[in-house]
Amino acid sequence: MKGYLHTPVLAEEVIAYLKCRGGGIFVDATVGEGGHTLEILRASEQNKVIGIDHDQEILERAQERLAGYADRVTWIHDDFSHLPQILQALGIEKVEGLLFDLGVSTFHFLEQGRGFSLHQDAPLDMRMDTRGKLTASDIVNHFPLEAIEKILRGNGEERWAKRIVKVIGKERQQAAIRTTGQLAEICSRAIPSKYHPRRLHPATKTFLALRIAVNEELNKIEGVLPIAPLLLRRGGRIGVISFHSLEDRIVKQGFKRLESTCVCPPSLPQCVCKGREQVLQIITKRPLTPGPEELRNNPRARSAKLRVAERV
Ligand SMILES: C[S@@+](CC[C@H](N)C(=O)[O-])C[C@H]1O[C@@H](n2cnc3c(N)ncnc32)[C@H](O)[C@@H]1O
Repeated sequence: MKGYLHTPVLAEEVIAYLKCRGGGIFVDATVGEGGHTLEILRASEQNKVIGIDHDQEILERAQERLAGYADRVTWIHDDFSHLPQILQALGIEKVEGLLFDLGVSTFHFLEQGRGFSLHQDAPLDMRMDTRGKLTASDIVNHFPLEAIEKILRGNGEERWAKRIVKVIGKERQQAAIRTTGQLAEICSRAIPSKYHPRRLHPATKTFLALRIAVNEELNKIEGVLPIAPLLLRRGGRIGVISFHSLEDRIVKQGFKRLESTCVCPPSLPQCVCKGREQVLQIITKRPLTPGPEELRNNPRARSAKLRVAERV
């Protein structure tokens, strides 16, 4: 097996803020290569982890890596959107902690052939869950150009979306755009060279936007946030690590909504959602971010933000 490459981000903070030293059942909803799961298992011999990932290949890596802990981990190949059903099938009502470490793993970028990296030429796929039907190639070659522009702007905040989409339109009339190399070259060509970002490839935002669309990443976190905390016992905590501003905004607003007993728009003269119960207490008023030492050891952590809330 190849060396393990994904370093879990904000691992110390996760262990401390999710109160992992006391023993209990924790859900690692995005188990990846098992980095955080391993830390949770090490934090207390009484801890058990339900490790979920919708990518079979990466789940198998985690399983192999943590084979020594087999009696304390339950591996689930599924989407975290199905969390209530997953726990119900295991006969578990409430858990001690829930962790979501969003996005993709280093593995996805380094493993050849799945189209996540713009530095390796591969088919334009980008599915984390290979059972999914939609690929990046489907979007680029078959979606209306306006829809692609909306994806690039909405998910990637790509200000050159219109120009990129224009070149995509011309190219796909000649022949289908099949590879990451072709798409990266299209983006480089579409964005005037004097506006190419200094440290990033000009296609970075386009790739991020397409990956988010293919895997419905924003919808999934938005969908699971209101339901996941209901699976925590009182005093149990949920932690979400996000890597870009759109995700972080969803988490921040989602936690706020669950903390509030009123979600009426400010324009209403009086509250019409009476009777709503507070679900969460926000623990991190501002998100936790990696310190200088972590950034030195793991530059990939630079945009990570951890928000934590407690079930009341
Ligand atoms: C940043 S990585 C997690 C890394 C992990 N915490 C570690 O330390 O090794 C995110 C993982 O979440 C998985 N993932 C993303 N969205 C998911 C979803 N909706 N359901 C289940 N897994 C998901 C990805 O396949 C990926 O392996």
